[in-house]
Formats: sequence, C-alpha cells, structure tokens
Amino acid sequence: MHDYNYYLRLVDGAISNIHYPRVPGKLYEPIAYTMNQGGKRVRPVLTLMTCEAMGGDINKAINVAKGIELFHNFTLLHDDVMDRADVRRGQPTVHKRWNDNVAILSGDTMLTMATQAIAQVDDDVLPAMMKLFNDTAIQIYEGQQHDMDFESRNDVTVEEYINMIRLKTSVLLGCACKAGALVARADDESANSIYNMAVNLGLAFQLQDDYLDVWGDPATFGKEIGGDIVNNKKTFLLINAIDHSAGNDEIELKRWLADSTSPKQQKIQAVTALYEKLGLKDLARNAIVNYSHNALDLLHETKMDFEAYKVFEGIINRLVDREK
Ligand code: IPE
Ligand code: IPE
Ligand code: MG
Ligand code: MG
Ligand code: MG
Repeated sequence: MHDYNYYLRLVDGAISNIHYPRVPGKLYEPIAYTMNQGGKRVRPVLTLMTCEAMGGDINKAINVAKGIELFHNFTLLHDDVMDRADVRRGQPTVHKRWNDNVAILSGDTMLTMATQAIAQVDDDVLPAMMKLFNDTAIQIYEGQQHDMDFESRNDVTVEEYINMIRLKTSVLLGCACKAGALVARADDESANSIYNMAVNLGLAFQLQDDYLDVWGDPATFGKEIGGDIVNNKKTFLLINAIDHSAGNDEIELKRWLADSTSPKQQKIQAVTALYEKLGLKDLARNAIVNYSHNALDLLHETKMDFEAYKVFEGIINRLVDREK
C-alpha cells in the first residue's frame, strides 16, 4: 500500500492527460477549467486505494478512477446551477463565469466522458461495473431531487435527511470503493463491506460539508459560506433547529424561513447565531464522529491487511476533520 499522495499523483496525472477538443470552445473550456481546478479527488483516490488493498492492479483502475472524478465534477456543474452557487474551489462556478446553458451542456458532456472512461475495463468486469455506475448515478439524481424538494418543506425529518444525503453523496463514495474492488475481482462480500464502509464515510462527509457551509473559512473551504441557510436547505442543522427551537427562537426561525427579501448576510448571521444558541455545533460534530466510527467499524469487516487498514483509517480521520 502507498499513502494518499501517491494515489493522488496518479489521479492528477490521468486527469491532466485528458484531451479536450478545441471547438466548440464553450463546450470544452468549462470542462478543462473544472477538471484542472483540483479539488480533493477523494473518490478516485478511494478507487485506487481499494483496488490495491484488495490485491488488484491499479493501472487497470485508473480510467475508472478518472471517470468517477469526471462524473463527480459533472454533478457539481449542475448542482451549482440548482443551488445558485457562484463560487467553488475559490473560483467562479461555470454557470457564473459562462452561463446556465453552458453549465448544463458541459455537464452533460462530462457525464458521457465519464461513462466512456469507466467502460475501459476488462470485458469480464464491464457488466458489473456499468451496473454499479448507472445505478449509482440514478440514486444521485434521486438524492438531488429530494434535496431540492426539501427546500420548500419545513417538516423534513432527520431520517429523511440521512436518506437524502445517502443518495446524493454517500453512494458515490461507495461506488468509488466498490469499483476498485470490482477491478481487483474481489469477492462479493469484500466488495459489499467496503461499499458499506464508504457509505457511512459519505454520511460523515456530507454532514461535515453542511457544517463547513456554516462555520467554514471561505478562503479554505472555497465556497461561499451560508448558501445552505439562504436556500433553506434542510441540513442536519436546520432540521434540528426547527425541532429544538421554542418561544421567540421558533418565531424568529419561522420568519427567516419565510424571508426572501432581507440581505443574505443578515439571514446567514441570524440563523447561524440561532444554531449556536441551540448547541447545534456540538450536535453536528457528534453526528459526524458517530458516522465516522461506523465507517471504522465496517472497515474491520473488509478483512484487509493491517497496512491497508491504516491507510483507510487515515483517510477517514482526515476527511471528517477537514476544513476544505
Ligand atoms: C462536494 O464534493 C460535493 C459534496 C458531496 C459535498 P467535494 O467536497 O469532494 O468537492 P471537491 O471535489 O473536493 O471540490
Ligand atoms: C452536493 O451537495 C451533492 C452533489 C453534488 C451530488 P451540496 O450542494 O451540499 O454540495 P456543495 O456544497 O455545493 O459542494
Ligand atoms: Mg446541492
Ligand atoms: Mg451545492
Ligand atoms: Mg454543501
């Protein structure tokens, strides 16, 4: 096994070798812009790590890893249109720098490029790989629609929220790991246990994303702080605030949920202050730690050797403490 940076270098190498045709410029420039921006590359790194931990040849997983990162970035282009988000990775989002139509069509192209890259596996692995990838993609679209539907509902439960983030975020981490296991021809039991580990890691990962959307440092996080509050996103924080506020706090929160005219910063400051008053910072941290512990427990079930275990343990701990 190698460390995170070793796999990251391989992923970055593969991504920097992607060829983008010159025309139409407005189709391919936004793709190159996005793919060359970096990002943590967590998912493709997980693919390579899992492949190696399960005894596979990572050279045979590199195209799959690249495809999963292309797919992830495609979801971000569309997500930023849906979430009306103007900044990502410290730079203007594609719909902001170009326009919504460009984000839609460049995103579509990235989805197809992703499929093409993922399909470059050995023939015996192809059917299972395409099923995994396509099933995962549809789950993500379902999760994204729940996320949008929840914006206009104030009775979303924590259970519905967890299911929504499992779909929009966690299954792609699960897919990334399982794809590596498929390339390694791991047995079903091992492939499914690493999948379940990554789904729990994904829950912690999205909870942490929601946390950083409120308390992150914009310079490090690379996104505008408070976007979830502005959009009435039913995050773990907002659901708990709705459930746990009473008296004047409850009246104030309901007023902010119905408000669409005050300056954004005013709403962000007021709702953040309410979250802090209600002790939600600690509640969220505890939930993040719990899901990361689940992931660590499930990691034991994968029967990987101690060296590989340690590398995965490192990535789990690093992701839940991340600032970006
Ligand atoms: C952002 O994903 C979308 C979520 C699922 C929270 P990342 O936090 O992995 O974004 P990048 O690729 O590192 O920028
Ligand atoms: C994103 O969730 C999930 C997908 C892109 C599928 P968010 O909307 O919270 O992600 P960010 O915060 O914009 O990266
Ligand atoms: Mg979103
Ligand atoms: Mg978003
Ligand atoms: Mg977010």
